[in-house]
Amino acid sequence: MPFLLGICIGLPYFGAGTNASEPIEFPSSRTYFYVGGHYLSDGTDSDVYTDQMYVERLTPVAGTSRSEPIIFIHGQAQTGTNWLNTPDGREGWASWFLRHGYEVYIVDQPQRGRSPYMPGDGTLATYSAEQISELFTGVQHYDQWPQAHLHTQWPGAGQKGDPIFDQFYASQIQFQNDSTEVQRINQAGGAALLDRVGAAHIIAHSQAGPLGFLIADARPDLVKSMVLLEPQGPPFQQRIISNSTAIVLPYGLTSIPLTYDPPVSNQTTVHLPFEDHAPAAPGLTDCLLQSSPPKRLDHLAGVPMLIVTSEASFHAGFDYCTVKYLQQGGVDAQYYNLSEAGIHGNAHFFFMEKNNLEIATHVRKWIDDPSLRVSSL
Ligand SMILES: *[C@@H]1O[C@H](CO)[C@@H](O)[C@H](O)[C@H]1NC(C)=O
Ligand SMILES: *[C@@H]1O[C@H](CO)[C@@H](O)[C@H](O)[C@H]1NC(C)=O
Ligand SMILES: *[C@@H]1O[C@H](CO)[C@@H](O)[C@H](O)[C@H]1NC(C)=O
Ligand SMILES: *[C@@H]1O[C@H](CO)[C@@H](O)[C@H](O)[C@H]1NC(C)=O
Repeated sequence: MPFLLGICIGLPYFGAGTNASEPIEFPSSRTYFYVGGHYLSDGTDSDVYTDQMYVERLTPVAGTSRSEPIIFIHGQAQTGTNWLNTPDGREGWASWFLRHGYEVYIVDQPQRGRSPYMPGDGTLATYSAEQISELFTGVQHYDQWPQAHLHTQWPGAGQKGDPIFDQFYASQIQFQNDSTEVQRINQAGGAALLDRVGAAHIIAHSQAGPLGFLIADARPDLVKSMVLLEPQGPPFQQRIISNSTAIVLPYGLTSIPLTYDPPVSNQTTVHLPFEDHAPAAPGLTDCLLQSSPPKRLDHLAGVPMLIVTSEASFHAGFDYCTVKYLQQGGVDAQYYNLSEAGIHGNAHFFFMEKNNLEIATHVRKWIDDPSLRVSSL
């Protein structure tokens, strides 16, 4: 049956190491549910439901030893699969945190993955294999920023045709391209999730950085701590490799309103006043911070935050600006510079790279023990 054979040999599957009887997943029980969303009527008795958030709840069979669960939120073009096993079949962060006694909630952002997208709502976009390789998995081959050549931790070549890359790229999906819409529906979904599960820690990656800020802004008392893995930034701008200076985050950290004291108007054509600060060291960018006197990030100020940045990522040069911006707004934000901590060779998807569990160990220590939360910037 040549047709079926063609399907079968398309993408190699990486099982649990060399011995299929060795489970890589920590035993857990799974349930799922949806939060948020609403019926959408076109007035013809053919209503649809939209903007709901898919949530997968994993509970360790051995029982939980931590009082608050962890909520994982993936970034652009991703889904909740990011936190399951890695593309080369090793243990991912969800299982690892279950192993350490946490209950885990994994979401698919509204309009993404198992959270349905309703045709006609905005425009969908995708990333090509070449973009994923250039920005995330094979950055050393492109050398687009000063730290890119240091990348060694992605399993495999990180380029099209490499079987591990092909597995990862197969998991990349289309996304709503209107970032204000994305931020609005994720803030609503995240708040509904916290209302349902109660106080939790949030771990958010990349494009989910602003989503984490907005969810914490809506439910500051329910976010025990937040770990931001290379959150979208830096403040006001989105510098990917284009070095674009366009203002895409008019509220500093987000495209839609955050709570400041004194308050700011929510006009999207206007942004918070900012001033430019010179780079702190070679290889780093300048930072746009609030003009003096800075307004306080009134709701975020009570939420401890850890910003984690890898050595070779396009974020290596600018994440420190996000930390400074948060600190300027009164937030207890700490910078975890993996390179400085002796963890080398990672890029933007470090939570699934070869040393992903070494990094998880440090993150867990920070979440577990508030006495270890020492400011580093
Ligand atoms: C998505 O948005 C970006 C930035 O606004 C734009 O450059 C790009 O063309 C859009 N893509 C699609 C498919 O609309
Ligand atoms: C972006 O800026 C960095 C640092 O100034 C520079 O090394 C790099 O070449 C620039 N990239 C582009 C695409 O202009
Ligand atoms: C700004 O506020 C007005 C009035 O409350 C509201 O209608 C509008 O949707 C808001 N705009 C944004 C971008 O949040
Ligand atoms: C992170 O650590 C590396 C290595 O010590 C250093 O070169 C870099 O400047 C640091 N980044 C920031 C933002 O401090």
